[in-house]
Amino acid sequence: MIVAIPKEIDTIEPRVAATPSTVKDLIKAGLQVKVETLAGDESFFSDQEYVNAGAEIVSSSSDLLSSADIILKVLPPTQDETSQLKSSATFISFFQTTREIQTVQALTEKSITGFSMHLIPRTTLAQKMDALSSQANIAGYKSVLIAASRLGVYMPLLMTAAGTIRPAKILILGAGVAGLQAIATAKRLGAQVEAFDVRPIVKEQVESLGAKFIEVESDSDDGVGDGGYAKETSDDYKRRQEELIHEHMSMADMVITTALIPGRPAPLLIPTTMVDSMKPGSIIMDLAAENGGNCELTQKDEIIKYNHVTIDGTSNIPGTMPVHASELYSKNITAFLTYMVKDGKINLDLEDEIISGAMFTHKGEITHKPTQEALNA
Ligand code: NAI
Repeated sequence: MIVAIPKEIDTIEPRVAATPSTVKDLIKAGLQVKVETLAGDESFFSDQEYVNAGAEIVSSSSDLLSSADIILKVLPPTQDETSQLKSSATFISFFQTTREIQTVQALTEKSITGFSMHLIPRTTLAQKMDALSSQANIAGYKSVLIAASRLGVYMPLLMTAAGTIRPAKILILGAGVAGLQAIATAKRLGAQVEAFDVRPIVKEQVESLGAKFIEVESDSDDGVGDGGYAKETSDDYKRRQEELIHEHMSMADMVITTALIPGRPAPLLIPTTMVDSMKPGSIIMDLAAENGGNCELTQKDEIIKYNHVTIDGTSNIPGTMPVHASELYSKNITAFLTYMVKDGKINLDLEDEIISGAMFTHKGEITHKPTQEALNA
């Protein structure tokens, strides 16, 4: 079977879905690999390195797509890409299927079997396929470095001949994969770090990284939903959460927000009134920008100044570290694909929870219930 690695079309996407190293793994699994010319260029993998790994370089994207049995990408297909796919081919990429309904429909009409890296179950067996985590780790790490480089203050406590410098205060909202990595990075730089999450279970993880967990007093498991993920909280909880966050934000130099609820718009945690009370020179990095943002003022892929506060809505922070982001993503997607390949062919076991969990369309039917519901709505 032919696996195609197209060059990403979106200009904000420098990542690539296969590296020379994962090309070798795909070939070892009995697959033939074709890579579009310059697909790895922005992640600093040359065509020659792909050739050395055993891939064929193809200059025309339409020739590549129309000949492929399996397509691996970072982003969902564009309309143009979809129209060129062979009917019944297999397509795998990041894909927020409940939001990209038209593309899902177009793939379904062509009987494409579609898998989303967003939908891979977060189980122990699927850990090596967990691209959400590998990329969120990068986002958490890099967001702190980006913000630190823009701050007008030091991160660590310093005792100098000219006086004592107090450490920067960092507030992290949402202590999942990105938030925990942001805490670890900010701590390594010597900052004073506080974190908040609706899931009280993360308190121990936050404290083990040396940060202070700020919590809303609650007798119920208000923010805890299925599978340990967050869910919508009650109005009373939201009000108390807002007061608490407001108090801590007004003291912070840097706020990193990562709060997400799977399949829903990002919760609004920072209304404009809170930004009004922030210190001049402070920075908000809104890692939820892709899903609407945690801050009311966030504009996706824009860095704005509001009074003297910077609000960064860059959605593709992993793309600012394309080498490791591509290396990790390509390992995740290759682990997923080779999990389904037996003797050089895709062998779909629809009873398998990883395969059926990640699938959203197959044989002309939308197989993912929330996607079907979004379509009906
Ligand atoms: P996510 O990206 O969906 O959300 C980020 C964080 O935002 C979560 O910690 C969530 O609780 C928090 N959040 C949601 N609404 C909030 C609000 N209103 N206020 C404050 N915080 C809010 O989550 P992510 O990072 O993808 O993973 C979440 C958890 O899933 C992990 O911490 C872990 O427990 C679990 N997980 C399990 C894995 C496995 O077992 N293989 C792998 C990865 C994650």
